[in-house]
Amino acid sequence: LQWKVIKNDGNEQHSIWLIALKNIFSKQLPNMPKEYIVRLVFDPRHHSMLCLKNDVVIGGITYRPFWRQNMCEIAFCAISANEQVKGYGTRLMNHLKEYVKEEEDMTHLITFADNNAVGYFSKQGFTKDIVMEREKWVGYIKEYDGGTIMECALEAQISYVD
Ligand code: ACO
Repeated sequence: LQWKVIKNDGNEQHSIWLIALKNIFSKQLPNMPKEYIVRLVFDPRHHSMLCLKNDVVIGGITYRPFWRQNMCEIAFCAISANEQVKGYGTRLMNHLKEYVKEEEDMTHLITFADNNAVGYFSKQGFTKDIVMEREKWVGYIKEYDGGTIMECALEAQISYVD
């Protein structure tokens, strides 16, 4: 497996990968409007951590860094259907944590989790108790019906990948 963080920067390979990731999100998050997924995945303020298997995108996380708050909002997270429950979702989140902590100087991840994904985010160290000051995230995080806001504090001294 390979892990890469990319954004929509005009690079042709990046566009091809982002289309593949957008298609996985559309299938795996059927309650999300497709146009909304396209808009965020291709918005240059959003970054995407890709999981590639034999150079094929099999999943990823699209997130937006909020540089002043040292926080990232996870917008979408999915692994394609035939690759789920093999541990890749856990590894994906660990690679994201390590990358944003080391390369983007982030201290927190925040997400509005689908109710059926709360279990997955809990296992990845996210909690429903938001420790971060309200001013840091209220008004920045998009809230959806049928979701739960969850936070994960990143520990500077922990390495999330081996
Ligand atoms: N509810 C509860 N537990 C779960 C769920 C779930 N929906 N999905 C996985 N788990 C558990 C697994 O059983 C496993 O537990 P274990 O470590 O005790 O064995 C652990 O979480 C991690 O499993 P992985 O195999 O690493 O996860 P996987 O590769 O299947 O990826 C993911 C998990 C990304 C949630 C995947 O199932 C998926 O794409 N689901 C559909 C899309 C989705 O719901 N995405 C999140 C929506 S919210 C958002 O995007 C902001």
